[in-house]
Amino acid sequence: MPLVPADPSSYANVSAFVTRHLVLDLIANFDTKTLSGTAELQFDRRDTSATEVVLDTRDLTIQHAEAAMGTGAWVPTTFILDAATPAFGRALRITMPPGADRVRVTYLTSPAARGLQWLTAAQTAGKAQPFLFTQAQAIQARSFIPLQDLPGVRATYEATIRTPKALVAVMAAEMTPGQAGSGVFTFKMPQAIPSYLIALAIGDLTFTPMSGRTGIWAEPSVVAPAAREFEDTEKMIAATEALYGPYRWGRYDLLVLPPSFPFGGMENPRLTFATPTVIAGDKSLVSLVAHELAHSWSGNLVTNATWSDFWLNEGFTTYLERRIIEAVYGKARADMEAMIGVRDLDESRKTIEVARDKTLLPDMSGRDPDDAYSSVPYEQGALFVRFLEQQYGRQAFDAFLRRWFDSHAFQSATTDQFLAFLRAELMDRQPGLVTDAQVQEWLTSEHVPSFAVLPASDAFVKVEQARDAWMAGGPVATLASASNAWSAQEWIHFVDTLARTLTPLQMRALDTQFGFTTSGNSEIAHAWFRLAIATRYQAAYAAMEEYMVRIGRRKLIVPLYRDLASTAQGKVIAQRIFAKAREGYHPLAVTSIADVLK
Ligand code: BES
Ligand code: ZN
Repeated sequence: MPLVPADPSSYANVSAFVTRHLVLDLIANFDTKTLSGTAELQFDRRDTSATEVVLDTRDLTIQHAEAAMGTGAWVPTTFILDAATPAFGRALRITMPPGADRVRVTYLTSPAARGLQWLTAAQTAGKAQPFLFTQAQAIQARSFIPLQDLPGVRATYEATIRTPKALVAVMAAEMTPGQAGSGVFTFKMPQAIPSYLIALAIGDLTFTPMSGRTGIWAEPSVVAPAAREFEDTEKMIAATEALYGPYRWGRYDLLVLPPSFPFGGMENPRLTFATPTVIAGDKSLVSLVAHELAHSWSGNLVTNATWSDFWLNEGFTTYLERRIIEAVYGKARADMEAMIGVRDLDESRKTIEVARDKTLLPDMSGRDPDDAYSSVPYEQGALFVRFLEQQYGRQAFDAFLRRWFDSHAFQSATTDQFLAFLRAELMDRQPGLVTDAQVQEWLTSEHVPSFAVLPASDAFVKVEQARDAWMAGGPVATLASASNAWSAQEWIHFVDTLARTLTPLQMRALDTQFGFTTSGNSEIAHAWFRLAIATRYQAAYAAMEEYMVRIGRRKLIVPLYRDLASTAQGKVIAQRIFAKAREGYHPLAVTSIADVLK
């Protein structure tokens, strides 16, 4: 049995008990905004003398605890809840009789659970039924299940979810067909997964297939546009399999959530959870699907052992994402996205307060991993992987990555384990191409190393020429004809790199010509609103407010709040918008925005 690495984000006593299987039986009550029922945990007991098992909880009401040994009968047992800590919640200590290796906890969630968002009917597309979704990563599973909440532990699970009859429950697991309308839904996850990949959603959900193994779950009005937007999903899977080996999770479906979903996407196994804000109508933002799909290898198959190793999940996935985009949409698009990523990295490093959070190895002790979240693990991580690819050559490096995934499949891995593998498989065999000092610099530098292989794109050179000609006083009509065939990525680059000193008159000229304020592309609109704030282009503010109230995806709205809050006048506007929007936001978004406005 592999040792579970020490994890500062969890109270679990994993040297004594390690979860192997979980059985959930929960009722979703939309009137009280609670999940209630039982969680049974089956352990691998590693310490025969241990007298208690410690679970993670957050805002849970614990009603009973029972213990059992093997297939023996349940017997009531005692438990205590430690005092709550703001970062990690409350340790639940359950007394374990000698030999006991199972517990069953009867419990109730809080309406304010950080891993749940309960939406009213008005907050959904159909306006007729309420909606619930979970978001467990990084350490929110404990707010809806008492468990060992750390990525170094993997368990299989089965679940029974009881809902109002008009609603449908889905989980990131094998779903039993034909249960719609019954109010009882059963699921099974036969592959061992870390707790942060447990996911549930309940609402007026329907399904439409895209290919034999892919499809869309969403509210009825969203299913068809989503299936069109994401129709290349099967091609993406085939491309990833050709590079890194078979997709090992059976189906790959997407659940399109209401716009309050606080992330772009979440790689829940078999069922990626996705924001509707990437449905642009032209597939321009589908790299999100490539990204979440890529996690089926980097993340779900080989999992970061602790949240300090987060770059192993996100850096590799961002690299894989761009390889998938290159395979399906061509190198030009992949390069443009990689360049946008490098700019995000530079930009994001400016707002990071804790120096080590600017590196690939942040210090997680005593902190909610969410507090260290930034583009650094994604983009510095991807640049590191890209550098390795460049040094060893694509063919050798692809084969290396495939071996990494195969040899660590269904395991959690630390940064040190990756480095040992890299040394044994590449560095020692082809000495001189990558040095230890370079590897250390990638991991510990607060900057992109000078020897990085940065992406470049002539598409952006053309954008910059057209931009500069217009900024130097050239006619907007010339800009219009130059930009006539630009993709969303080129537009994003254009808006992002416009001088923050444009006058409202210049802003209006652009807006009149290109309609940025009413752009249906959520990323272009986001870039434009940031520029509008910087240039005090008030004509965009009403649309921006509507956007900030409608959308809860942190990446799209937090920078707008931050930009507004950088001036006294703007801060008043931000506070007013937040007061109005807050009720519709996910608890995680509320925390992030409150932090920016404090
Ligand atoms: N796993 C992440 C989302 C996440 C990270 C949730 C950490 C909670 C804690 C997911 O794969 C992700 O990275 N999503 C990105 C989209 C992607 C295209 C960069 C997002 O949500 O913006
Ligand atoms: Zn990711």
